[in-house]
Amino acid sequence: MSNNREHFNTQIGFILACVGSAVGLGNLWLFPWRLGQYGGAAFLIPYLLFVYLIGVTGLMGEYGLGRMTGKGPMGAYDHVLRKRGFLFGRTMGTYPVIITFLITIFYSVVTAWVVRYVWEAIFPSFLDKPDFGAHFNELFETSPAIIWLGVCLLIIGLILGRGVTKGIEGINRIIMPALFLVLLIMIVRSATLPGAGKGFEYLLSPDWSQLTKPITWAMALGQAFFSVSLMGAAMVVYGSYLSRDTDVPYSSFLTASFDTVAALAAALVIIPAVFAFGIDPAAGPPLVFVTMPEVFKNMPGGYIFSMMFFVGVLFAAISSLMSIMEVVVDGFMDQFNTSRKFSVAIVATLAFILGIPLAVDLDNLSLIVDFVSIYLMPIGAVLAGVVFFAINPISETRNEINVGSKYPVGKWWEPIARYIFIGVSLLVVILQMLYQVG
Ligand code: PHE
Repeated sequence: MSNNREHFNTQIGFILACVGSAVGLGNLWLFPWRLGQYGGAAFLIPYLLFVYLIGVTGLMGEYGLGRMTGKGPMGAYDHVLRKRGFLFGRTMGTYPVIITFLITIFYSVVTAWVVRYVWEAIFPSFLDKPDFGAHFNELFETSPAIIWLGVCLLIIGLILGRGVTKGIEGINRIIMPALFLVLLIMIVRSATLPGAGKGFEYLLSPDWSQLTKPITWAMALGQAFFSVSLMGAAMVVYGSYLSRDTDVPYSSFLTASFDTVAALAAALVIIPAVFAFGIDPAAGPPLVFVTMPEVFKNMPGGYIFSMMFFVGVLFAAISSLMSIMEVVVDGFMDQFNTSRKFSVAIVATLAFILGIPLAVDLDNLSLIVDFVSIYLMPIGAVLAGVVFFAINPISETRNEINVGSKYPVGKWWEPIARYIFIGVSLLVVILQMLYQVG
C-alpha cells in the first residue's frame, strides 16, 4: 500500500503544508490572549523554550516516523512495536486518530463561523450591525449553524478529495503566502492607529511573577504543542507523504519558526488595534468574532480590513483543519481499504452529524476544546515520543531523521529526545491534571 502512496512534490510544498497545519486558530485565536493573560512578554520565555527545545524535537520525530514507515499513526506504531515483538501498536495508534476526530469536530464548528463571517464581510453592511455580541449569539441559531457547518465541511471535503499534491499541497502554496501578506499589512494598519502604543505596552511589559506559577509553564507547553500541531497524528501523516530526500531537521525548524512568527504577528495585529479603541481584550472566541468587528467598525478603511482579516483567519483555519481531517481520512483508508473520495465523504458526514450539538451550544464547545487540547493532545504527543524515541532504538531514530539532511543532528540530540522531550511533556501533562488548568 505504501508503494503507491502519494508524495509531496517539493520540499517547499511540504513545508508550506506543515506551516499551514501549524498556523491556525491556535495562533490567531488562542495565542494573543494567552500572551496577555500569562505575563505578556514574560510568557515568551517558556513559550519559545518549549517551541524550540521540545516542539522542534517532537516535529522531527513525527515527520521522521511518518517518513520511515510511510503510514499514519496506526500503521507507524504497529511497524515500530512489531519489530520489538509487541502486537498492540495498531491499537495504540488508534488513540491519536480518535482524538484527532474529536478535534475535527470542534475545529470544523469554529471554522464554520469563520466561513460565515467571510461571507458576511463581503457586504459593506456587515459593519453596520449595532452589536456584534448579539451577532455572535446568532451563530448558534439552529438552522444557520447547521447550514454553515455543512458548507465548511463541504469545502474541506472537496480539497481533501483531490489528494495530497493537488489538494493539500496545491492549496497551501497559495493560501499560506497570502496569509503572511495579510498579517503584514494588518500589522502596519494596527501599529499606525492613534493610541496603538498602549497595546504595545500591554504586550511588551513583562509580568515576571507569572513565571513562578506552574500554570504559566503548563499553559506555555500546551500552547506550544497545540500550535505546532504536535500530538502524534497530523505531522506523522504529513511525514508519511515525504520523499527520502527531504530535510527533516530543517523542515521542523522552519515549521516552528513560521508558526512563532505568525503567533507574534497575530498578537501585534489584534492587541494594539483593540487598545487603540479602548476595548477590553476579551478572552477566547469573542476576541476574533466580537471585539475585532467592533474595532473594524471604528477604523478608517474598516470594510477592506475586516474582509482581509477574516479571509486571513479563514486561510489559517482551513489549512489546519485539512491536516486534522486528513489524519482521520488516512486512518479510515488504512483500516477499511476504501478509496480516498469515499473515506473523505464518510468522515465529513460523521463530523457534520456529531458537530451539530457543538454548533448550537457554545458551552459544550468550550468544554470539549479545553479538555481535548489541554489533556488529550499532549498525551498523544508523549505517546509518539515514547514510540519513536524510547521503543525504537534512539540511534536508529536519529539516523532516520538525518536522511537527506543538510543539517543533520548530532549525538547530543539523543538525550534531548529521549529524556527531555518525554520527561518534560509527561511532567506537564501531570502538572496540568494536578492544577486542572482550563
Ligand atoms: N496547530 C493548529 C493551530 O494552531 C491546530 C492543530 C492541532 C492542527 C493539532 C493539527 C493538529 O490552530
